[in-house]
Amino acid sequence: KTGLNGLAARTGRYFGTATNSFNVQGLSPVGPYNDVLDYEFAGALTPENEGKWEVIQPQENVFNFTGVDIIVEDAKRIGALVRGHNFVWHQQTPSYVTNITDPEVLKQTLRTHVEAVAGRYKDDWAYLDVINEPLFENGTFRDSVWYNLLGEDYLEFALRTVHEVAPNIKLGINDYNIESVNEKSMAYARIAKNLLDKGAPLHFIGFESHFVGGQTPQDIAASMKQFTDLGLEVPLTELDVRVSVGPEDVANATGLTVQASDYGSSVQACVDNPLCPGVTVWQFYDPISWIPGVFPGEGAALPYDAAYKPKPAYGAIEGVL
Ligand code: XIL
Repeated sequence: KTGLNGLAARTGRYFGTATNSFNVQGLSPVGPYNDVLDYEFAGALTPENEGKWEVIQPQENVFNFTGVDIIVEDAKRIGALVRGHNFVWHQQTPSYVTNITDPEVLKQTLRTHVEAVAGRYKDDWAYLDVINEPLFENGTFRDSVWYNLLGEDYLEFALRTVHEVAPNIKLGINDYNIESVNEKSMAYARIAKNLLDKGAPLHFIGFESHFVGGQTPQDIAASMKQFTDLGLEVPLTELDVRVSVGPEDVANATGLTVQASDYGSSVQACVDNPLCPGVTVWQFYDPISWIPGVFPGEGAALPYDAAYKPKPAYGAIEGVL
């Protein structure tokens, strides 16, 4: 046994996880969290929250790099690459940004953020979700401050601004519900083609992959192809598979079996595509998953249960790597 990342590495891929500084420092959760992380998920770390604008620049020109610094250090120790997450989003962004009304001020505010954050991590981050979740389900732009003041050109502006500061980081757009061929992913394919035609530094489209057991797309490969035909990479960036749970976040046997099959087919889609560089799960240990807090009645979405026992999902992933 070499662990999931060891298996992924045999085909040049990484297997990684989202995490937080207090997780890797051993402050919480209790138990062998770091032993499991270091053995199974040492391919890639994504800061689950500490790279977001509201944490890293909570007030204008006041930066807090502590959390991401700790994760970057831990990544160096275990040999993981780091995926930065994220710069431009409609959530977890302070009101001093979202209340801006002048397009030039907004651009300058983003420039300042990029110079500080991408400047600091330009040699530490392999990938960066520059823009997160810019589209609605029907493929039109969300009415964020970014779109409202700058129009869809904000994508190109953000990508170019980051690339100037950090030319070695692979840059991309990250979203959910694009793992099928649908209105949203087709819109991204058009937007991506357009950006590439303009020479914008776009290197990947991140497939978040927050799936529901039994409803996980069966055409992930076809959706990936929309982007890999353009030469873009298609990492799975936030994989989890939620199922119905009882009050203690416990799934039944059927749920676990369906979940395992969905994890297997999702990871298989990555293994089958030479431009899928790897898979990141959005944490790996059920008790600290974001799912139960956001989707009541659903949970148990990760490969390890509350006792740090690998679930059937673990075996399914191992089987396809
Ligand atoms: C989530 C975190 O996991 C939570 O801890 C936080 O409260 C909200 O954000 N899409 C993304 C991630 O791109 O940043 C989100 O992470 C999950 C959905």
